[in-house]
Amino acid sequence: MEQTLAFVKSNENRFLEELFELLRIPSVSADTKYKPEVARAAEFIRTSLEKAGAEKVEICPTSGHPIVYGEKIIDPKLPTVIVYGHYDVQPADPVNLWTTPPFEPQVRDGKIYARGSCDDKGQVFMHIKAFESMMKTNSLPCNVRFMIEGEEEVGSSNLGAWVRENKNRLKGDVILISDTSIVANDTPSIEVGLRGLSYVQVEVTGPNRDLHSGVYGGAVSNPIQVLCDMIASMKDKENRITIPGFYDDVLELTSDERIELNKTPFNLNEYKKDLGIDEVRGETGYTTLERTGIRPTFELNGIWGGYTGEGSKTVLPSQAFAKISMRLVPHQTTDKITEIFTKHFTSIAPKGVKVKVTPHHGGEPVVTPTDSVAFKAASKAMETTFGKKPIPTRGGGSIPIVALFEKELGLKSVLMGFGLDSDLIHSPNEHYGIFNFMKGIETIPLFFKNFADMSAKG
Ligand code: BES
Ligand code: MN
Ligand code: MN
Repeated sequence: MEQTLAFVKSNENRFLEELFELLRIPSVSADTKYKPEVARAAEFIRTSLEKAGAEKVEICPTSGHPIVYGEKIIDPKLPTVIVYGHYDVQPADPVNLWTTPPFEPQVRDGKIYARGSCDDKGQVFMHIKAFESMMKTNSLPCNVRFMIEGEEEVGSSNLGAWVRENKNRLKGDVILISDTSIVANDTPSIEVGLRGLSYVQVEVTGPNRDLHSGVYGGAVSNPIQVLCDMIASMKDKENRITIPGFYDDVLELTSDERIELNKTPFNLNEYKKDLGIDEVRGETGYTTLERTGIRPTFELNGIWGGYTGEGSKTVLPSQAFAKISMRLVPHQTTDKITEIFTKHFTSIAPKGVKVKVTPHHGGEPVVTPTDSVAFKAASKAMETTFGKKPIPTRGGGSIPIVALFEKELGLKSVLMGFGLDSDLIHSPNEHYGIFNFMKGIETIPLFFKNFADMSAKG
C-alpha cells in the first residue's frame, strides 16, 4: 500500500494534466451538436483505461451515447468491484457567467474550474488513476470492471438495456460509485440514500393561435395565466404537495432516525449566506436536511410561453409550457407519481384550455446498506485517509441507474463520492478541489484492499 501511495504522490502533476485533457472535451450529452465530442470523451476514457492496464476495453455503442467497458480479472475466485461513473457533462450555459471558459480548465485557489471537473469526470478519473497506481505497483487486490457511461445527465436511457444484455460481463460483488458529495473536507461522509425522480413537461393550449392581447385579452383564457394558477395550486400553505396520493407511499422515518439524520453538521446561516437568501422555505415540520434528504419535492425547472424577446409585443399566447421535476423518496415509484400527477394536472385544468403532460426520464429512489462489507470497507478507507470516521448522510440528488443495478444485477452500490455541495455542479464555475481529487485517488486503493481482506474473512 505504501508503494501505491508513493506512486500516487509522485504522479500528481501528470494525473492533473491528463484530467485537464479530459475536461477540455465538451462532452455535453443533452445537446446533439456535441455528439462527436461525447464520442471523443469515450475514446479518451478508453485509452486511459488501456494505458492504466485494463483489459477487454471496449467502446460499446448504444442508440444514444456509448458506454466504455474495461476489466482486470486477476483471479475469478477473488471478489470483483464494478466501478460505475459518467463521462458526459451538463450543458455549460449560461457561459457568460463563467469566470474562465468552461472547457478550459484552470486552477484557482487549489480548485480545478471546468464543467465536469467534479460531476463526474474528475471523480471518474480518480478511479482510473487509482487503478493505474495499483497496477503499476502490483497491488491490485481483487478484480475490477469499469462501466463508464455517457448519458447519465440525460437519464441513462440506454444503460438499462445494455446492463440486461451484458449481465455475463457484469458479474461482481458490489458497485462502487464516486458521483456524490461529502459534508466538508474535514468532515468525511458517505451518502446512503439517493432520491428518485419523476420529470415531466406540461403544455397548456388555449386559443388556436396567438392573439392580439387588446382585441381578445380579458375574454379568452390566457394559457400562461392558467398554467401559473394550476402550478400555484400544487402546494398548500404548509408547502405540502397537493396531488392526491402523493405522500401515500412515503416512508416516514422514526424519530430516532430523524434525530440521527439531523446530527449531520449543517449551518443554516452559512447555507443562507452562500445562496444569497434571507430565509429558507420548504415543507412545514421538517429541517433543511430533511427537506433535501428524506422528503419528496415538486420543483419547476423552467417555464415559458408567449413573447420573451427584446422590447414588448402585445400578445395573448396560444400556449404555455413548464418542465417539472419531482424528487422521490422510498417507497414512491416514478410510474405511480407520474401517473397521479398527470391525472391530477389534467383534472384541475379549467374549461377553455387543453393540457398535455409528457413524461421525461425518471428513476427510483434508493437507500444503500451500512452493514455490508463494502460499506465497511469504504468507511474504513475514508477513516484512514481523512483521519475521521465518515458519517452516513442522505443525498438530495439522483443517480437513477443505482436502483436499476440492484434490480437487474442484484448488486448494491457504495456511494463513495468526494465532491462538495459547494462545487457548483450543473452551475457556472463548477469546480473540484485538488485536495478532493487526490484524496479520492488515495482512498480508492484502500477501499479495494479493505474490501478484498474483509470479503476473505467473512
Ligand atoms: N452526480 C449527480 C447526482 C448527485 C449530485 C447526487 C450530488 C448526490 C449529490 C448526477 O450527475 C445528477 O446530476 N443526476 C441528475 C439526475 C439525472 C436523471 C439528470 C439529478 O440529480 O438531477
Ligand atoms: Mn454525476
Ligand atoms: Mn450531474
